[in-house]
Amino acid sequence: MSANRPVVVYGASGYTGRLVCEFLRQYQIPFVAAGRDIQRLEEAMRQVPGIESADYEIVAVQHTAEELTALFSGRQVVCNIVGPFERFGETVVQAALAAGIHYIDTTGEPAFVELLKEKYGAPFREKSLTLAPCTAYMYTPAEIAARICIEEEDVDSLEVVTAGTFVPTFASTQSIYSLFSHDARYLKNNELIPWPPAKGYDVSVPGFATTQLMHPWAGGNLPLVFKDHPTVHSLKQLSGNTDRELMEGLIAMQAQFEKDVRSLPREEQRSALEKIVDAIEPFMPPRELTLIHRSCDIATGTGSAGGKKVVIQSTSPYTQTGIFQAATANKLLTDKPHKAGFCTACEAVGFRYLLSQQKAFLPVKLSISDF
Ligand SMILES: NC(=O)c1ccc[n+]([C@@H]2O[C@H](COP(=O)([O-])OP(=O)(O)OC[C@H]3O[C@@H](n4cnc5c(N)ncnc54)[C@H](OP(=O)(O)O)[C@@H]3O)[C@@H](O)[C@H]2O)c1
Repeated sequence: MSANRPVVVYGASGYTGRLVCEFLRQYQIPFVAAGRDIQRLEEAMRQVPGIESADYEIVAVQHTAEELTALFSGRQVVCNIVGPFERFGETVVQAALAAGIHYIDTTGEPAFVELLKEKYGAPFREKSLTLAPCTAYMYTPAEIAARICIEEEDVDSLEVVTAGTFVPTFASTQSIYSLFSHDARYLKNNELIPWPPAKGYDVSVPGFATTQLMHPWAGGNLPLVFKDHPTVHSLKQLSGNTDRELMEGLIAMQAQFEKDVRSLPREEQRSALEKIVDAIEPFMPPRELTLIHRSCDIATGTGSAGGKKVVIQSTSPYTQTGIFQAATANKLLTDKPHKAGFCTACEAVGFRYLLSQQKAFLPVKLSISDF
């Protein structure tokens, strides 16, 4: 096994893992496509466009800290795409820390993000390593919009929305269920406050005449990222799919969870959720369509003297995840990260850089207005 391939894509056999490999190839970065099943990895790699000109190897690995540490040793970055992250993520973080490499992942699960912040932020910082969860559609473009909002203005309060037209993958569907067992929280005057559960919010999204039904989605990552920010004291983050029926179904399932499962002890809650999740049959959606699967990220920032609204319209949410992962790995291989320890990709490699890389591969319209 050659240690000359500096990036490991763990979970390369999945829908999103394939996309990460596709964009690592675009950056001409040699990589290891790793996962638990050699046949599924080989089958997945056969479907990556242009793979014949990529420098890669396939490695089957057991999901243990020991085996993963051995695989990561001597490399520089792991792109972890094995979810749900609350179930599988911590082992990979431990292996990255033991091997001394940067860790980025695609989680959208705030409870896992909080675990990384509290438990692993300091040890990664001590080793000058980046620990950047959510390097993905949820929530990199939303954060780019938020950071543009606060760049020049006296903005201290933000409302951030991610509204996408996408088909959730197998592990994404599993991850959505794992969100129900935690309080979704937003930042209000520097305190994390719970959202009411099983409630949607109508949001006006550019490109739609009707309002879109959005949801706290376990709170998003930004309230945790901006907690203790020197100027931003309040932040609400909503997310969702522009398929209203899907969103109504999600909210109804959460209401059912609140009624039947919420009052159970923590362990019973966990096993009830795992039973639901394990009952979902694995599936692989078709590759997304650039003209159908769109994204819109909105940040509205307010300060004492008005504010700013930033909108990023683009396409192909899952493809964006492949781009943000590969672009972040690319920068971490060449430059020292702007921030070590727990952070976001925007903080580690720069939000302007990530926006430029999104623009390099996909149509992007950035609109900024003052009010
Ligand atoms: N935040 C975002 O915007 C965003 C975007 C994309 C994805 N994601 C997240 O990323 C994760 C993966 O998504 P996906 O679209 O790639 O899903 P997917 O197509 O279902 O792939 C899941 C991957 O995880 C692997 N895996 C599952 N259980 C495992 C286990 N016990 N041990 C080792 N590997 C295991 C699978 O390997 P096998 O092939 O061997 O089953 C596969 O490689 C999900 O949690 C999803 O929510 C988030």
